[in-house]
Amino acid sequence: MNRITVNPDRSVGTINRNIYGHFSEHLGRCIYGGIYVGEDSPIPNVNGMRADVVEALKAIRIPVLRWPGGCFADEYHWQDGIGPRDQRRRMVNTNWGHVVEDNSFGTHEFLELCRQLGCAPYINANVGSGTVREMAEWVEYLNSPGDSTVVRQRWANGRKEPWNVKYFGVGNESWGCGGNMRPEYYADEYRRYQTYCRDYPGSRLYRIACGPGEGDYRWTEVLMERAGRFMDALTLHHYSLTGPDWNHKGRALRFDKGEYYELLQHAAYMDELITRHGQIMDRFDPEKRVGLIVDEWGTWHQVEDGTNPGFLYQQNAMRDALVAAITLNIFNRHCDRVVMANLAQTVNVLQSVVLTDGDRMVLTPTWHVFDLYKDHQDARAADCFVETDRIGEGKWRVDRVSASASTKDGAVTLTVANCAMDEAADVTVRVPHSGEISGRLLAGAPDAYNDFGDAPLKAVPFEGIRAEDGGLAFTLPPCGVAAITVK
Ligand code: AHR
Repeated sequence: MNRITVNPDRSVGTINRNIYGHFSEHLGRCIYGGIYVGEDSPIPNVNGMRADVVEALKAIRIPVLRWPGGCFADEYHWQDGIGPRDQRRRMVNTNWGHVVEDNSFGTHEFLELCRQLGCAPYINANVGSGTVREMAEWVEYLNSPGDSTVVRQRWANGRKEPWNVKYFGVGNESWGCGGNMRPEYYADEYRRYQTYCRDYPGSRLYRIACGPGEGDYRWTEVLMERAGRFMDALTLHHYSLTGPDWNHKGRALRFDKGEYYELLQHAAYMDELITRHGQIMDRFDPEKRVGLIVDEWGTWHQVEDGTNPGFLYQQNAMRDALVAAITLNIFNRHCDRVVMANLAQTVNVLQSVVLTDGDRMVLTPTWHVFDLYKDHQDARAADCFVETDRIGEGKWRVDRVSASASTKDGAVTLTVANCAMDEAADVTVRVPHSGEISGRLLAGAPDAYNDFGDAPLKAVPFEGIRAEDGGLAFTLPPCGVAAITVK
């Protein structure tokens, strides 16, 4: 028996809505074809943005979108992406497939996309191959209400008012594709670059420093010690994969029981990463002023057969949905430190919530998890104690049941996942309620997925939740995720 105890009166804090954020890079068909098709496209669009994709993202209340990379960010020169589109500079996207980047999607287009989505923009700027002046002028172009040559350029390009962009990243993976820097060097570079990222009247920049990849605890230590007081947040990247190494990754739709639990164990490792990086941050910042932003997470499989290896296109099965469910529960539980997270990457790349094929679009099981979890946004985290056993195959082990809870407007939302591949889970929940109980359930075979024209996976009403004295009881199907609301 799995027992969950929810205590709405105990809380570590509010679940920042930005934990439910996404990431869109100039990579493969994420931006071009997936989000942006141009005004002349036969695909229904509003100012070039696919109407179907915008609707799908609005439906899950996307709170924040990160752009333009990723590795692409440290080769991106923002001036190339403004002005008349037919005069924009062309480049080869050397990170991702060596395709031509015509810069037709640039600053104005990204901010138009965010306007349509109703989400906050998070811009990640170039330290690796950009200059301090270039970064400073991007901030000026974005946020200055003054009258300067840079601002006049913005006016000439059709935008009078500043956008007041808040979230601003100073470099991406500066330990890797963003310049192969040592933490000491990056800490100094960060201090220098961020100095000239000015606050303009009416806007206050939220400065985000490049943090560690995975378990690089030394990076966090050095950054916090040397540059902690100059940042609002530090990032963390963690991807979940199977296989012996990055060059021999497992597949999205074909996996055995060992690989099923291997992927889930990798996802659950996020808890240890946040805990340990958080403990280092606590030493330098016990007040938790500096946020932790997990601005790249998700599953990373081998690309689908016949697709460009540089485009990172993968399908998305129920196993991936479980990764999302486990990870979002972890973020909710760590909401005292985790202030934002961005799933990689929105459309057609890695663990997408949406896939497109020409004018067709399909919602992945991961989209449905974000839909199930959306009531956690801006809710008060509720203490959620889970008693369960460990299950798995061989050396790969995870908790059978993963859960988190929050309260908002007098209701408790509990999200709970049965991580078992092939066994139902009986769950009892101790939670105060007045008998008003509802739930939705997403479940399917671990390798089930939604395809174009055949999308069987979706959330359905969760029948069979039994009200008991002081709580609830239900049986979760294997590889199932539920969102339950009690009043
Ligand atoms: O999301 C794909 C890539 O993974 C990003 O460009 C990079 O930051 C990370 O290594």
